[in-house]
Formats: sequence, structure tokens, C-alpha cells
Amino acid sequence: MTTTTQQATQETVAASARGLTKTYGQGDAQVHALRGVDLDLPRGRFTAIMGPSGSGKSTLMHCLAGLDQASGGTV
Ligand SMILES: Nc1ncnc2c1ncn2[C@@H]1O[C@H](COP(=O)(O)OP(=O)(O)OP(=O)(O)O)[C@@H](O)[C@H]1O
Ligand SMILES: [Mg+2]
Repeated sequence: MTTTTQQATQETVAASARGLTKTYGQGDAQVHALRGVDLDLPRGRFTAIMGPSGSGKSTLMHCLAGLDQASGGTV
């Protein structure tokens, strides 16, 4: 069943992530680049993703674009 709210969301959201995680490496070398990201990018707008170097901006973009596979969560 699709509710009216869900239909409106599908029409206005270009991409979304829920509980997105990305972990590089293993053991002591493990890096949690994304830890449970929830995000909706609105359709037809410019969105800036800002943060310090190494905060996971490129990792997030790669996962949202399907260029890299997330460790967990959904896109
Ligand atoms: N292929 C990889 N293997 C191991 N660690 C990685 C890899 N790619 C990214 N990382 C690590 O994941 C974290 C997030 O990196 P990412 O490149 O997504 O950050 P960023 O916000 O895009 O940084 P910048 O502003 O420097 O481009 C960093 O700690 C980085 O060292
Ligand atoms: Mg980057």
C-alpha cells in the first residue's frame, strides 16, 4: 500500500539514505567512514555537503551514486 505521504515523498526526493554505514579495513585498521547516515536530498535543488577532510563526504556521494557499495543501510 502506498500512502499519500509516501507518494509526495517519492515525487520530491531525488535520493535518500537510511542508516547508511561504510567501514573500510579490518581490525585495528578499521575506519568507520559513515555511521548511520539518514538523508533526503530534495529534487530540483542544489545541496552542499560540507565537512572537514576525512569526514566522509566523498564516501557518502559514492554510495548515493551507486559507485561504491555501502556496508549497511539503504540508498
Ligand atoms: N579506499 C579507502 N580505504 C581505506 N580508508 C578510506 C578509503 N577511502 C576513504 N577512507 C577513509 O574514510 C574516511 C572518509 O574519507 P572520505 O574520502 O569520504 O572523506 P572526505 O570528507 O571526502 O575528505 P576530503 O575532504 O579530504 O575529500 C577517511 O578517514 C578516509 O581516510
Ligand atoms: Mg572527498
